[in-house]
Amino acid sequence: MGAYQYRPLDPHSHKPSSSSSKNPVCFLSKPVCAWLACGFLSLALLHLLCCSPAGNQRAAFVSPLLNYINNTYSFVSSVPEGAKKSCNYSEGQWVRAPGHARRYNATQCDVKESHDCIRNGRPDTGYLEWRWQPAGPPSCALPEFDAGAFLSATRGKHVAFIGDSMARNQAQSLVCLLSAAFPSRLLHRDEGYHQKHNFWRYAFPAHDVRVSFYWNPFLVRATGKAEDESVPYNHVHLDQPGDRWGADADTIDVAVLAAGHWLLNGAIYYNGSEVIGAHNAPAEMNYTGIGYAWPLKMVYRTAVERLSSAGGGRPRTLVLATFSPAHFDGSPTDSPTACTKMEPYKEGEKEVDWVCKEVRDIVYGEAEAARARSGAATRIEVLDVTKLATMRPDGHPGVYMNRDPFKHGVPDKIYSDCLHFCLPGPVDTFNEILLQILRNRR
Ligand SMILES: *[C@@H]1O[C@H](CO)[C@@H](O)[C@H](O)[C@H]1NC(C)=O
Ligand SMILES: *[C@@H]1O[C@H](CO)[C@@H](O)[C@H](O)[C@H]1NC(C)=O
Ligand SMILES: *[C@@H]1O[C@H](CO)[C@@H](O)[C@H](O)[C@H]1NC(C)=O
Ligand SMILES: *[C@@H]1O[C@H](CO)[C@@H](O)[C@H](O)[C@H]1NC(C)=O
Ligand SMILES: *[C@@H]1O[C@H](CO)[C@@H](O)[C@H](O)[C@H]1NC(C)=O
Repeated sequence: MGAYQYRPLDPHSHKPSSSSSKNPVCFLSKPVCAWLACGFLSLALLHLLCCSPAGNQRAAFVSPLLNYINNTYSFVSSVPEGAKKSCNYSEGQWVRAPGHARRYNATQCDVKESHDCIRNGRPDTGYLEWRWQPAGPPSCALPEFDAGAFLSATRGKHVAFIGDSMARNQAQSLVCLLSAAFPSRLLHRDEGYHQKHNFWRYAFPAHDVRVSFYWNPFLVRATGKAEDESVPYNHVHLDQPGDRWGADADTIDVAVLAAGHWLLNGAIYYNGSEVIGAHNAPAEMNYTGIGYAWPLKMVYRTAVERLSSAGGGRPRTLVLATFSPAHFDGSPTDSPTACTKMEPYKEGEKEVDWVCKEVRDIVYGEAEAARARSGAATRIEVLDVTKLATMRPDGHPGVYMNRDPFKHGVPDKIYSDCLHFCLPGPVDTFNEILLQILRNRR
């Protein structure tokens, strides 16, 4: 469990980027705080802990709220298609909407056990009672997820999520939302306790749609810690797409890419066989510090280039998701009171952290650069979830990443997941926005 050690930020390893040089005052102190807030510290830990086998297999705790789950929701758009084209969902606020997010039984769609908060015994249900109201005119209200509309928009297509565990969180949400309404079939799942959640594919035969997840937290090829927790560092090849998704790139029609947490965490970076620098490597290894911003741009560039060039000009949509932060907010990751808030932050109560903003800006910048480079066949969009995720400290599993965590009383130390979201939960909103992106062509 102690494999991961926090190494304080070496300011010299932070390659100045346009936004950090505009904030020289923040350079030393703010990043440290903001990184903690962004949860990078907890990542490797969560990777370990989220995967620890479920404890006792006591009869499932049956929460009354599940009685309300209604998989037969129907959606009738009252907004004319054209009116939504210019809507921007990235700013807005959470408004109370009883029952909005109670849409599936996560145990039935094979979500990672640590995200199945209801099964794990989370007793409060208020976190399921909010919907995202985007800023702008009322006609820009975000429609509720409509599985039929999603499957029609992706008919005959292969939708692939590629990236870190937040990409997985969204991919699992999508499979749950779709399979609650339409028959699904598991086409592939890797074997092994970790791997079974890392590489999988579902089919939705009525619409000939496939949904895959490729766990590749750096997007590009990575060896070391990403493959084996006992290895101290990641070796990341900035010039090579991830092996698994790279091999399948020609088959992918819609790709959702999400990365960032592991790059903040650090790695040793390569171009070909040459080491070009590192972030957060021990000083005695003598690597040039290159920070996280430049490698982050490079991994998006390599991934987008591979996907744009694949399949000989076949139309393709690439969706770059922005950073979704953790909410440990200064608590130790093993504190029973980490992320125990039961409501979203109110407008003005919480600002998007400095590092999260910088990571978001990089994603926007790379999307724009990629649009300029790629041909008309590739559509490139940003799925900006940073603000809406920042406002939801209440939506994480917390101690309910463990099954019935208080069955033997309240422990002094117990690990909390304050990064991923409960399923169902706020991450379903990511897919509501994804659906609007896919429906509303520019
Ligand atoms: C959710 O699904 C699981 C597996 O089918 C089942 O055991 C559980 O009772 C369900 N929960 C409710 C309350 O329907
Ligand atoms: C389920 O949803 C349908 C359609 O929206 C509605 O007519 C029905 O009353 C709902 N059932 C329950 C039990 O809430
Ligand atoms: C949407 O709003 C965000 C935040 O205000 C802004 O950064 C972004 O450029 C906007 N997107 C579009 C497509 O206008
Ligand atoms: C890697 O090296 C090649 C050849 O020198 C160069 O064209 C490319 O820009 C480099 N890529 C990165 C990510 O540094
Ligand atoms: C790093 O540099 C120091 C000083 O030049 C040298 O003594 C040490 O052997 C180097 N370490 C590695 C791993 O190359």
